[in-house]
Amino acid sequence: MVTQQLTNPMGRSQTAIKYVRDGYRAIRGKSPKYTTDLHCVRTAAAAIRPPLTLQNNSVTEVEWSLLSKLVEESRNHTGPIIEIGVLAGKTTQRMARYKSPTQKILAVDNFCWNPWGLTPDEQWGLVCHSLDYLVSTGNVEVIRIDKNEFFETYNGPAPSLVFLDAMHDYEETKKDILWAQRVGAKIIAGHDYGPDFPGVIQIVDEVGGPKQLAGSVWRLA
Ligand SMILES: C[S@@+](CC[C@H](N)C(=O)[O-])C[C@H]1O[C@@H](n2cnc3c(N)ncnc32)[C@H](O)[C@@H]1O
Repeated sequence: MVTQQLTNPMGRSQTAIKYVRDGYRAIRGKSPKYTTDLHCVRTAAAAIRPPLTLQNNSVTEVEWSLLSKLVEESRNHTGPIIEIGVLAGKTTQRMARYKSPTQKILAVDNFCWNPWGLTPDEQWGLVCHSLDYLVSTGNVEVIRIDKNEFFETYNGPAPSLVFLDAMHDYEETKKDILWAQRVGAKIIAGHDYGPDFPGVIQIVDEVGGPKQLAGSVWRLA
């Protein structure tokens, strides 16, 4: 029955009407009357998707202590900061706080993966929502594209900083690093240099190893 309410369009519109009616009640300072029986629907929805732990899958505080310094260092260079792999935009927002006002962050993601069961369009919507202020003020541009297509078509200036955090196998990380070197990025860094991602360790070591490492955030020599 709960499944029916979640998937049946008629059920959804009836549910929406109930929320609207309770919305009017709320405006008039009254408690909900029509949606009190719908809590089971919300609980069921939460049960069929992974928990929304937004703090996971981003950089930790220890890792941020290095990455924030790299962003500060990148202020000495011209060219954009390029983040490959945005997820929900948490690191994008943090980097925006430390960059110079004239630097732009290009936030590149095709929204093919997230740990919360969101569709690509939903993840894209979440990122546009959370980064709205930074986008509308010209500090960030969100680019919805496969990273390898972005690499092929990028014709901007040499980036001041590239932060690689999309796919963490050897072959894909190699493509990321070689592109960053090819376009003359002044600082090349990334995430997940650790035992869970031996391919990242392998390729980072092959190109000279980390000059700096904090947690699993690495910066190339
Ligand atoms: C670990 S998350 C990024 C976390 C983010 N940098 C942060 O610190 O909050 C990986 C992201 O890479 C994206 N991604 C994976 N493969 C990709 C590809 N081929 N092109 C573009 N984005 C990709 C996924 O959609 C996901 O959002």
